[in-house]
Amino acid sequence: MSTGTYRWLARYFDHLFEHQRPFPIARKVVFGPLLPAVSSACDLCCGTGELALNFAAQGIRTFAVDLSPDMCRITREKARAALLPVKVIRADMRAFRLPRQVDLITCEFDAINHVPRKSDLARVLKCAALALRPGGHFVFDTNNRLAFETVWNNTWFIDKDPVAMVMRSTHKPGTDKAACEVEFFIREGQIWRRRHEHVEEVCWTMDEIRQALAKAGFGEVQTWDAAPFFDDQLTQPGARTFWRARRNG
Ligand SMILES: C[S@@+](CC[C@H](N)C(=O)[O-])C[C@H]1O[C@@H](n2cnc3c(N)ncnc32)[C@H](O)[C@@H]1O
Repeated sequence: MSTGTYRWLARYFDHLFEHQRPFPIARKVVFGPLLPAVSSACDLCCGTGELALNFAAQGIRTFAVDLSPDMCRITREKARAALLPVKVIRADMRAFRLPRQVDLITCEFDAINHVPRKSDLARVLKCAALALRPGGHFVFDTNNRLAFETVWNNTWFIDKDPVAMVMRSTHKPGTDKAACEVEFFIREGQIWRRRHEHVEEVCWTMDEIRQALAKAGFGEVQTWDAAPFFDDQLTQPGARTFWRARRNG
């Protein structure tokens, strides 16, 4: 990803997607039971910081990592405004380091799919393993091939003043890649400004992810299909998977 990505998306992320992040039920099931024993956590690819602030508000020592300068700025501003001690680190998920190991790393909303190459999964998992204490957990969700064939092979339009956004996604059948051209029309008084952003994702099979987790030193792998968690028309069974893996001791 170029550092320009998630610039306009960052600025209007909460405004446009606040009702489209149906994660509370999944969180309760996938990592809720771990939380009583979590004293430190990192939200990787933290976006606008909602989960990081949520952790910090529970008294968890919290790090938040994202590559987008705008996402980092927004998370820092929110944490400051809420008087919550979140340490925001601008870094690539393929090369991030934390000042100390944590009990839990989360990476939500198919953020892990945003790496340029399928082989990058190994790099992300290696960094996550190093950043976790032995026995710590990594929780993430993936868009699977089915999501590329359905959601990422479509055009979506969101109109929420002062922004209208068109997302034109494409997926070449038989590949593990998808791309999205995002056109923004932003009203500034009487003027409409047009902005553009390009986002790409890659996906893996369940077996590829399991093998990469094992190679990076993770065990006790559990998965949940996202469809029962998400009360929407978009998330078909098989389209998104939640993963929880434990760093070997
Ligand atoms: C779909 S958003 C999800 C944000 C947040 N996790 C959430 O659930 O709202 C993907 C996030 O991944 C970040 N991102 C994309 N590529 C990245 C990379 N290579 N390293 C770190 N962050 C990255 C983007 O800046 C963006 O904030």
